[in-house]
Amino acid sequence: MRSKALPLLFPLFLLPMSAFSQDDVIYDEALVPAYTLPAPLLFEDGSPVRTPEDWRKRRAELLDLFAKHVYGRTPVGRPDTMRFEPRKRVEGFLGGKATLEEIRIHFSEGADGPFLDLLVVKPSQVPAGGVPTFVGLNFTGNHGVHPSPEITITESWVRARKDEIETGQVVDHRATEKSRGNQASRWPLERIVDAGAALATFYYGDIDPDYDDGFENGIHALFGKPGPDEWGSIGAWAWGASRALDCLETDPTIDKGRVAVMGHSRLGKTALWAGAQDERFAMVISNNSGCGGAALSRRRFGERVERINTSFPHWFADTFLRYNENEAALPVDQHQLVALAAPRLVYVASAVEDRWADPKGEFLAALHAAPVYELLGQKGLGTAEHPPLDTAVGDRVRYHIRSGKHDVTDYDWEQYLKAIHSL
Ligand code: GCU
Repeated sequence: MRSKALPLLFPLFLLPMSAFSQDDVIYDEALVPAYTLPAPLLFEDGSPVRTPEDWRKRRAELLDLFAKHVYGRTPVGRPDTMRFEPRKRVEGFLGGKATLEEIRIHFSEGADGPFLDLLVVKPSQVPAGGVPTFVGLNFTGNHGVHPSPEITITESWVRARKDEIETGQVVDHRATEKSRGNQASRWPLERIVDAGAALATFYYGDIDPDYDDGFENGIHALFGKPGPDEWGSIGAWAWGASRALDCLETDPTIDKGRVAVMGHSRLGKTALWAGAQDERFAMVISNNSGCGGAALSRRRFGERVERINTSFPHWFADTFLRYNENEAALPVDQHQLVALAAPRLVYVASAVEDRWADPKGEFLAALHAAPVYELLGQKGLGTAEHPPLDTAVGDRVRYHIRSGKHDVTDYDWEQYLKAIHSL
């Protein structure tokens, strides 16, 4: 049925697959192989998807394919034993303009089981109907998003980069006082609150510590060792974002119709997969998500499937290994993941110096998701041209390529705030 798939004409310098090794990273458009993308609007049996009702069935088919071949199936939904424990509330946070709340989400009955610590920062004045809210996954612990001593330092295992060890921010994989605010530039709390929005953030390592341990810890330990086509870490982190949303749904000051899921890099991959599965997210934000995120796998530009599976064997399902140096055999590609956000707002953001994440591949995924949006009566990107630097384009599918490197900046947030307010 692939013969009916969408033909794309891109530089056709064909190299035999065997000519590529892990060390031959492609950074030259001329070396991008010819490829054919699987069509979002064709069923697996080759018949066309003509109506929004058809799309619901195609959507289920695609979700199943991404689960089976890429991220792994998510074996559990919301656990019956889940409960929310409010632990802290500070009025007058951020010089009086915000309220801070910390809520522990327990996944099992006792206090010893795995938990997720949710930090919610919202404007002090909340309009009737509530505030639009970003569910954002963070890399170093909630205390990393702002230097305020009001934020509780994570108790969980944290990764330890060399500079974090040298500066005493992390000792024996535990965060110290010195790590407060170490990710603050990526989380402009004042700007978010001033714009009348809230941030609900959690440390991804609460759900699954980010190292390859055979799934002995985190949420996998609670639900049992995953089979070869069951969730890896990305699947687990995405599940965590949905549990954070379960908790927010109990808060009348949150506007349930305007909750976005947002992540950067590996957590951008996670945000896309979370948003694909959980349609309660009204907006999905992929910030520099790259390979296994918004970037088309078939382009093989920058990081590619074999490399990511080798460096991070715990992120995906084992079944994804079949596609090492064999991307053309994947039954899906990442434009279809972007399309699974339809008709909700999806924002794909790149950075020009972030070639490892293949900015052009991220743009093309957004572009080729657009037909699904159009079928559902929404406008897509509005251009087939990769836009100039620092120029946001699109409507329900939005894209920008910002100056600078792999990061989350104020420019990115400015766009996300505009987007959430357009809902
Ligand atoms: C590595 C990895 C990327 C990932 C990034 C990150 O660079 O190769 O796939 O997006 O880490 O999460 O920071």
